[in-house]
Amino acid sequence: MNKPDQLEPGAPARSDFARDFLWGCATSSYQIEGAGREDGRAESIWDRFAATPGKVRDGSSGLVACDHYHRWPEDMDIARDMGLNAYRFSIAWPRVISEFGAAPNQKGLDFYSRLVDGMLERGIQPWATLYHWDLPQYLQDRGGWAERDTVQRYLEFVDAVTRRLGDRVQHWITHNEPWCTAILGNFEGVHAPGLTDFGTALQVCHHVLLSHGKAVPLIRENVPGARVGISLSLHPLRAASEGPADRAASERHDGLRYRWFLDPLHGRGYPPATLAQVGRAAPVVHDGDMEAIAAATDFMGVNYYFPETIADAPGHEPLDARVLPPPAGAETTAMGWEVAPEGLGELLARIHSDYAPRELYITENGSCYDDEVLADGSVNDTQRRRYLARHLGAMKDAISAGVPVKGYFAWSLVDNFEWAEGYLRRFGLVHIDYTTQERRLKESGKWYRAFLRQP
Ligand code: FCB
Repeated sequence: MNKPDQLEPGAPARSDFARDFLWGCATSSYQIEGAGREDGRAESIWDRFAATPGKVRDGSSGLVACDHYHRWPEDMDIARDMGLNAYRFSIAWPRVISEFGAAPNQKGLDFYSRLVDGMLERGIQPWATLYHWDLPQYLQDRGGWAERDTVQRYLEFVDAVTRRLGDRVQHWITHNEPWCTAILGNFEGVHAPGLTDFGTALQVCHHVLLSHGKAVPLIRENVPGARVGISLSLHPLRAASEGPADRAASERHDGLRYRWFLDPLHGRGYPPATLAQVGRAAPVVHDGDMEAIAAATDFMGVNYYFPETIADAPGHEPLDARVLPPPAGAETTAMGWEVAPEGLGELLARIHSDYAPRELYITENGSCYDDEVLADGSVNDTQRRRYLARHLGAMKDAISAGVPVKGYFAWSLVDNFEWAEGYLRRFGLVHIDYTTQERRLKESGKWYRAFLRQP
């Protein structure tokens, strides 16, 4: 086999990182599991959204997806053979609590219990995300995350999961990308539940953050030695020009995209300038909420894909600022996302200097390309391989500069249901043939394996 540095000149070596560094891949329940109607799983907001014509580009859903619910042993074998020592997955709330107010569904919990045992048997450390966007539809029918009671329901779900898995799972991520839950789902309407009201989105955001903060002590109570954090989707920002209007727009955008999350999580409350700008859309906050949200965590999860360029755009809701397409000539992925490994370094340096979380993990980073299976069965995704190698390089530099990054999870282990893009977008290091469910390690996956096999 070729050595990784022959395939990607300039890429870092495994030995450039600490011996106990975590090397993983990430997935989420709705995107891979399938088995949408099995073992008492309730409908999720994504089932409902996907069934609504026009919401998912290819009209597909997660009903079958990668059939991971049945094929997980094969997927975990692939993860082990790649050399991963950690795996990030998420728990489907609708599998665990089948009906409003019902007792935990043991069959749903059994699945995750088997999966966790399967990881441990293979020497893979489980990292469980408690909410990766699949809210039970019965809760959305009662107002979803905009309703304060959903925080309580979430805690009941978290309690059931951590009691059952806490003897084997130490690492817990309360939420994946609250910005997406709130803004994509409730303001832009491009994700489930498909609402388009800014005030609703900010109330959703507040309840998601509150549920995070309240879950932290609960998880610690149920799980001896628990390590708890949250994963945020973040972008380094670039003003479209040096002019004052674009710079001010970039500042406004940053208030909502970055500080709106990181400030309250670190005990600083919502940023006052942004609160003033959102005006009457500001969330209802009860006494004690901000203290709860600021619960001390063990790590910060960073999901990084691309930088954003921001322009002043009067009239553009909600803050008169607009995200521009990547600059002309920039390298992009099939999603149209700019490839900018240096952006990862910038972002990490900023978080470290603004908030200094004790530990950081890259809980997602990856790229989408239009992969093809060649006649010999291989998938020659050299662009993804390069994306991966270059981002590992940027991460190495950030660590050398003093940022305490302790692990990296590539998005994603397998191709999967890419939300509103359906199955048209492939992010996996493993290719899935959706007609046969055949798995094939792509060249990028082979490169990661070779990288991880280095001494
Ligand atoms: C992130 C999501 C993940 C996946 C990647 C491409 O925002 O957390 O589920 O869709 O983007």
